[in-house]
Amino acid sequence: MTTDAFATRLLAWFDVHGRHDLPWQHPRSPYRVWLSEVMLQQTQVATVVPYFLRFVDALPDLPALAAASPDRVLALWSGLGYYSRARNLQAAAKLCLEFHGGELPRSVDALAALPGIGRSTAAAIASQSWNDRHAILDGNVKRVLARFHGVDGWPGAPAVERRLWSFAQAHVDDAALAPDRLADYTQAQMDFGATLCTRSRPACVDCPLQIDCIAFAEGRQNELPTPRPA
Ligand code: ADE
Ligand code: SF4
Repeated sequence: MTTDAFATRLLAWFDVHGRHDLPWQHPRSPYRVWLSEVMLQQTQVATVVPYFLRFVDALPDLPALAAASPDRVLALWSGLGYYSRARNLQAAAKLCLEFHGGELPRSVDALAALPGIGRSTAAAIASQSWNDRHAILDGNVKRVLARFHGVDGWPGAPAVERRLWSFAQAHVDDAALAPDRLADYTQAQMDFGATLCTRSRPACVDCPLQIDCIAFAEGRQNELPTPRPA
């Protein structure tokens, strides 16, 4: 299949089976998307939702976050773990006030220069906030791409990770992916990895990518992605 079928099929799946009622989707502002992506870096959706709602209720925008006391921010984060995320969040908010006119910067490179925002998170923020065309590559997406393309090797190895990025980039660059659906495409990849092509029991019988999936064709769904070498 051509790469466009990947994105097209994933979106068709998302329209029926994806998550459309997450609180950061309504309304979908850059601040809310950023906060949700940082919370979701190490924490599952079901846990994040109540924390997210409490946080945006207390600190509804970037200036409020920048001005809050560090203790208040930590208290709102309390229970989510990985507290450096909360400290980075507030440091980034202050930088946005100082250097970006009180808003999140409008480019992935500038986003990725802020504390706590890596390349994939920056792309997730830009695509969901502005429908920018950028590939994401978190743990879920790595698993899906390693299986679908039959990529051997631990995804944490630089050469393997480069291959996975280039597949992710090829799919998002496809002309069949409409410009107004890039936010949905990002969410589709997250949802697909979290609920269908799961780590231990991928639901290949229900999978829209099955006919072209190399792992499925070779019966290697449970061998890919290759585990980290001991
Ligand atoms: N993990 C990271 N970002 C996510 C998102 N937007 N939805 C679900 N899981 C995620
Ligand atoms: Fe994942 Fe199975 Fe679909 Fe391949 S066929 S992408 S392994 S769910």
